[in-house]
Amino acid sequence: MTAPLVLGIETSCDETGAGLVRGHELLADAIASSVAEHARFGGVVPEVASRAHLEAMVPAVDRALAMAGVRLSDVDAIAVTAGPGLAGALLVGVCAAKAYALALDKPLYGVNHLAAHVAVDQLEHGPLPAPAMALLVSGGHSSLLLVPDLVTDVVPLGATIDDAAGEAFDKVARVLGLPFPGGPYIDRAAASGDRALVAFPRSKYRDGSCDFSFSGLKTAVARWVEAREAAGAPVPVADVAASFQEAVADVLTRKAVDACRTHGVDHLVIGGGVAANSRLRALAAERCAAAGITLRVPRPALCTDNGAMVAALGAELHARGAAPSTLGFPADSALPVTTVLTK
Ligand code: KG4
Ligand code: ZN
Repeated sequence: MTAPLVLGIETSCDETGAGLVRGHELLADAIASSVAEHARFGGVVPEVASRAHLEAMVPAVDRALAMAGVRLSDVDAIAVTAGPGLAGALLVGVCAAKAYALALDKPLYGVNHLAAHVAVDQLEHGPLPAPAMALLVSGGHSSLLLVPDLVTDVVPLGATIDDAAGEAFDKVARVLGLPFPGGPYIDRAAASGDRALVAFPRSKYRDGSCDFSFSGLKTAVARWVEAREAAGAPVPVADVAASFQEAVADVLTRKAVDACRTHGVDHLVIGGGVAANSRLRALAAERCAAAGITLRVPRPALCTDNGAMVAALGAELHARGAAPSTLGFPADSALPVTTVLTK
């Protein structure tokens, strides 16, 4: 018997995603991004994102169906990001998913965006061993999660106390005159830079906690660049990008490996947009190999927001017989990471 076909809908930020998954098989991943509309503001403008979702939602679902070569009536279950994220943006996806579920008379799962960033790895690397450690690094979140069970038990160990890792990338990019969103541009610029040029601070590394802090690092980069400019010297963008990226990758990978050791966990999953970063991926691979930890990182296109990750979590919930959400569930911009499935 073939596994159920699950449609996943993602609208928590600036990506309208519609994905189709059967079991652990990815069939389609359609994405429409409004990022270009936010670029001149240097950050995502919530109202602009919501309106873009409204326009892109149905075409994205239609595109996913066409990619997979299936019809809407073939869909067996629907999953949607219920939170966390931008309230107005989430609302578009949640309303669309409810409409599809009602029209098709199929079960609906309102799921947690962060758990979906972890679940997507199953599409590439198979079932997630339990327990696993998850490092989630995106524009809105930096979290270390102990995952004894992706569906029933996600334990937050630490999170950022100020800027998220992606936010730091985006802000430092602005300081360096690179476009928004800064992560991919810093990654590219850093490729030809010297990561040892500036020893930027590794904040919150030595306190023993699993929390992160990136605002001091961001300020240190800004001060360094200002001092250069004040001295009339050119700013070595590639070197600063590489040195900054190194500081972020160093702290993230050390904390993740330390957390694995402390909790006796030998599988680490990294997810979220910043997991697309080439230096983070390389350093994580190096340090996990040295520590005997199996590293799992989805391919970059599945690290940034997409509908397939939501479908992947929906498929897992459906396969485990989880009770679907009721049609009355709200979009929750502050949905706690411990709530994998909303009622
Ligand atoms: O997961 P995501 O697509 O959206 C959120 O849930 O926030 O993450 C977006 C973030 C942005 O801050 C972006 O700059 C960052 O991920 N990002 C990267 C890279 N690609 C995207 N950061 C560093 N290196 C990259 N290659
Ligand atoms: Zn995300």
